[in-house]
Amino acid sequence: MVNVAITGGAGFIGSNLAVFLKSSGYNVMCIDNLSRSLDNNVRLLSLKDIPLYVADVRDCNKIFELMKDCDIVVHAAALIDVEESLRDPVSYFENNVVGTAAVAKACVDLGVERLVYISSAAVYGDPIKIPVDEDHPTNPLSPYGLSKLLGENIIEFYSKINGLKYVILRLFNVFGPGQAITGYAGVITKFVNCVKCGQRPIIFGDGLQTRDFIHVHDVCCAIEASFKSSHVNEKFNIGSGKGVKILDLAKMIMSLANFDGDPSFASRRSGDIRYSCADISKAKRLLNFYPKLSLEEGLKSVLNDLT
Ligand SMILES: NC(=O)c1ccc[n+]([C@@H]2O[C@H](COP(=O)([O-])OP(=O)(O)OC[C@H]3O[C@@H](n4cnc5c(N)ncnc54)[C@H](O)[C@@H]3O)[C@@H](O)[C@H]2O)c1
Repeated sequence: MVNVAITGGAGFIGSNLAVFLKSSGYNVMCIDNLSRSLDNNVRLLSLKDIPLYVADVRDCNKIFELMKDCDIVVHAAALIDVEESLRDPVSYFENNVVGTAAVAKACVDLGVERLVYISSAAVYGDPIKIPVDEDHPTNPLSPYGLSKLLGENIIEFYSKINGLKYVILRLFNVFGPGQAITGYAGVITKFVNCVKCGQRPIIFGDGLQTRDFIHVHDVCCAIEASFKSSHVNEKFNIGSGKGVKILDLAKMIMSLANFDGDPSFASRRSGDIRYSCADISKAKRLLNFYPKLSLEEGLKSVLNDLT
């Protein structure tokens, strides 16, 4: 059986991935310092009998011990709030950059077969061309985005110097069950929560900014595909390949929830990019990654989940 360790395993993506991989026949364990985890996600892991070790990924000795029997490490632990990173950049560099250095070093020392690094579209900043492919220049606009890019650089460094095998997945906006409400990462959960409570969703800016939303189940499929792929030491965009205006998203959620009225508007937030849409042709070609859930299907599942 293939042994997989997931850092950030008590988080939104990590916990969904742990359950998905266990049901696909992998031997899974999670590492998380619980700094940002939701109680429901922790409960889900325990319900599914998935071991969760409470540890900080910056604790080199501890993660070395915990990862000893691992074939594959998925590194998803990070602080992920763009706005918070602008207010407190040093914590983001400390946590995300040092954390990734520690995980990559442990993978090298243990001879782990493959490190899958969960990166972000935030490394691109405001795109100069849409859709964004993997060769698009990187120009992060927030300490969060920069911390994810520096994480990529560290992994590439260990690959060059020590032969570490990696796959970098640059996720666009992921949504689905178990997501906390944080910046645009949680915009769908936020809007759904609003309409469920009879409140109008709040759009920051004019609502014409676009995002590429991908359901967490499709992300789990992409991550599993990266375990098996012969294309190592590569970066892949993981999104739906469709840019959706935030205003249209709000209207779609309101319509699916039979909510009458219009969204309300607040001023644009600093650090927010204007347009985002992934070119996923490389992931289609080399990982055989084809997103399955439409936005509408995904939204319905979130609406039902939060009933
Ligand atoms: N959610 C999205 O839309 C999105 C988009 C692009 C990339 N990503 C990336 O996906 C990964 C997971 O994001 P998520 O949405 O599940 O966030 P999340 O906040 O739900 O999960 C992150 C988990 O990491 C843990 N963590 C943070 N720092 C840690 C540390 N030093 N040691 C151990 N655990 C630590 C937190 O407690 C949390 O449980 C992140 O690396 C993020 O950059 C997410």
